[in-house]
Amino acid sequence: MSRLVVVSNRLADPRRPAAGGLAVALGETLNRTGGLWFGWSGTVDPGGTPGEGALQVRQAGAVTLATVDLCREDHASYYLGYSNSVLWPVFHYRLDLADFHTADIDGYRRVNRLFARRLRPLLRDDDVLWVHDYHLIPLAAELRALGCRQRIGFFLHIPVPPPPLLAAIPQHEWLMRAFLAYDLLGLQSETDVGHFTQWLGTEAGAKRLDAQHLRAFGATVRVGAFPIGIDVDEFERLGHAAEAMDTFHALRDEYSRRRLLLGIDRLDYSKGIPQRVRAFRELLQRYPENRHSATLVMIASPSRDSVHAYADLRHELEGLCGAINGDYGDLDWMPLRYIHRTVSRRRVPGLCRASAVGLVTPLRDGMNLVAKEYVAAQDPEDPGVLVLSRFAGAAEQLHEALLVNPYDVQGMAATIQAALHMPLAERQRRHRQLMARIRAQDVHWWRRGFLDALDQCEPASASTSAS
Ligand code: G6P
Repeated sequence: MSRLVVVSNRLADPRRPAAGGLAVALGETLNRTGGLWFGWSGTVDPGGTPGEGALQVRQAGAVTLATVDLCREDHASYYLGYSNSVLWPVFHYRLDLADFHTADIDGYRRVNRLFARRLRPLLRDDDVLWVHDYHLIPLAAELRALGCRQRIGFFLHIPVPPPPLLAAIPQHEWLMRAFLAYDLLGLQSETDVGHFTQWLGTEAGAKRLDAQHLRAFGATVRVGAFPIGIDVDEFERLGHAAEAMDTFHALRDEYSRRRLLLGIDRLDYSKGIPQRVRAFRELLQRYPENRHSATLVMIASPSRDSVHAYADLRHELEGLCGAINGDYGDLDWMPLRYIHRTVSRRRVPGLCRASAVGLVTPLRDGMNLVAKEYVAAQDPEDPGVLVLSRFAGAAEQLHEALLVNPYDVQGMAATIQAALHMPLAERQRRHRQLMARIRAQDVHWWRRGFLDALDQCEPASASTSAS
């Protein structure tokens, strides 16, 4: 059996429990298979040198964790800069928020090269490498340049926008070549596969060899949709543990006469949080019976707050939430509870179960695992209703959710109202169907699907370099 080597910028970190769905999913995957997990330590070393960073290796059960610190300059250009101010906004269809600062690309390349140099000596010949997300697109090319011949797969957790948006990235041809250094590219949805294939076709004249393989720049790559799932068993265990139960009972007692609506996100402009707040305002305005009876709890954990767009969003949201509470709140009822803090993951199932409606309404999202967790946390006898953006990757799988267009504030308000009034039998039926799919297509199904496909690839089929 080959050893699995996972590479991601973010590793699961007990000091930072809401690192996002990626770190949780990879942690659950590796706990099952064992192997090596390589990435950024999460530490910024103020005295460090660009392109350098010592390797730290420690053992956590069956998983070896190998991490590298980043110096301040590399963190600014690679993480805050190119990854989160160029790739993240563009891949989430937000050219308007992209900051194409020329120096950042140098830091992005430098850190990918550093990761390759630190990882290379740790590798065995029969390892299988699985690289994750937009921070590390050029990693395979860097590893190939150092002589790695192992199979290398890449999974992109974020959406792929239509080709004209990608073509706006000044280095987009270089990025295409970097993608082609992988043996297998996994994307979240068929929509993403369609956009990726069109991009390579229109911009690089890529040829489709068969249903799965594309050839361009002298390299062949297999591309497919592998929608990520959650660890249902693990999440159910969490749901039965004391912290989730306490949270559930406390909320049920407090809201015994009220209906709870719930949103849990990282504070990110892709999540459609202001639009959701406006829809809630519209709900109170158009359906006044909800005044004094519905409360929206919105947990937005702090994220990337030194990037301008995130700081701007925070201010916008504070204004919106304050205005709703000021306009509609009363001595005995506040319509909205906005919590800009990380809530322990152990409390999440209790929060979900206590709420009548889960609002997962991103403007764009690769998948959105909160949608799946919301369903998995429900009591099948009396389940809450999931209101889900049609622009989340999860919408391709979760048809029985109430799908909404998050830009259509009035439509969203009407759907929330319908969710609040959905008859029990319909809630049970939808929940049953959703749960069956979430269970069948869980995180282990995702891992097996991707790794089996990678196993079928010819090793080191790519002959291109991104440099
Ligand atoms: C998204 C990305 C992940 C990232 C996570 C948290 O889920 O796809 O790659 O780890 O957000 O963001 P952060 O910047 O804190 O790692």
